Amino acid sequence: MANEVTLTAKGERWRRTRHPWVYRDDLRGVAESLAGQVVRVKGPDGTPVGQAFCNPRSKITLRWLTDDPDCPVDRSFWAGRLQAALEFRQRVVKDSSAYRLIHSEADGFPGLIVDRYGDILVVQSLSLGIEQVLPTLLDLLEGMLSPKAVVARNDSPVRRLEGLVVEKKLLSGKLPDRIEVTEGERRYRVDVMEGHKTGAYLDQRENRLWSRQFARGRVLDAFAYQGAFTLQVAGTAQEVLAVEDSAAALERLKENLELNGITNVRAERGNAFDRLRELEKNGERFDLVILDPPAFAKNRGEIRDAWRGYREINLRALRILNPAGTLITSSCSHLVNEEIFAEILREAAADSQRTVRFLESRTQSRDHPVLLTHPESKYLKCVALEAA
Ligand SMILES: C[S@@+](CC[C@H](N)C(=O)[O-])C[C@H]1O[C@@H](n2cnc3c(N)ncnc32)[C@H](O)[C@@H]1O
Repeated sequence: MANEVTLTAKGERWRRTRHPWVYRDDLRGVAESLAGQVVRVKGPDGTPVGQAFCNPRSKITLRWLTDDPDCPVDRSFWAGRLQAALEFRQRVVKDSSAYRLIHSEADGFPGLIVDRYGDILVVQSLSLGIEQVLPTLLDLLEGMLSPKAVVARNDSPVRRLEGLVVEKKLLSGKLPDRIEVTEGERRYRVDVMEGHKTGAYLDQRENRLWSRQFARGRVLDAFAYQGAFTLQVAGTAQEVLAVEDSAAALERLKENLELNGITNVRAERGNAFDRLRELEKNGERFDLVILDPPAFAKNRGEIRDAWRGYREINLRALRILNPAGTLITSSCSHLVNEEIFAEILREAAADSQRTVRFLESRTQSRDHPVLLTHPESKYLKCVALEAA
């Protein structure tokens, strides 16, 4: 059979871990002509073991689709997976009109992200295989959800590793002038074309709603983006200082405050590292500090610098907390795993010379499911600490 690849003995051991990626070295050769195809995968003894997307040009050469070596990977195969993804969201998302509908491997769509902002869908395809079936998937999404517009945010550089062009464009429908969504009791505007990621950091959705319980007195939201944490905590806080270094994000933050009639927030453009140092020096104190920085480590070589960066901001944040104040601190670098992040926080606590209690450790919202056998799919850490 033409569309077949064979695992080495090591590749077979790896497959049994149920990690959804197989690397080139774990295959007994693979033909260039299989690029973008669904292939039947055989074990070293020739037994068929499943099917996968194949891209010989990528280090991740196989992306697992199914353990069934014979089922047709056709429209009804994808319709079933889509239905399951929708039903899962109906179970786990109760309070927001913006959430992730498809989270790649964890939903059985290797390399596909689909985010929903009310009637608008934003798609990101990150593998050659999924790119080939995208027309079918878009057609199914149209049929099931009748979106007003579908946007492709294919501007991630990761696409280059798969030999795909980097671009963003409107795929169908018409984008409204303003896209407004709800999260809990708050509303916020999103720019799906120019905003970060697909427009919003949906992975922090549940953590933002959970953060409300710690809101009181003075709050600092450093790395605020368009204010999604600020919106949630402003209701019970006396005042909030929101710091963000992107002018465009800060503009949207201000719009979002207005949209919700919130008047107790000071929104400042600035570098959070500098501001944290200044606030400490000026003796300013807070009852809640929220740190949600961008990923400081995007590759292994950056882990040491990232460590220093995370330690610095967490140390400063702990120092400016009032007694019994809370620090909600996050890291979205998957390379800085839970153990490393815990060690960084331990170091920051020791350097701060304060008694710091651990309250809770969380991860990404459930609409970004984590596949237990795919450690890379668990990337977000969000920890609550209390300084005595
Ligand atoms: C992970 S996002 C924050 C998401 C936000 N908390 C939310 O829930 O929507 C990180 C933000 O930090 C901003 N940023 C990056 N470096 C910064 C710095 N040195 N000082 C202040 N903001 C920074 C980015 O522009 C981005 O908006």
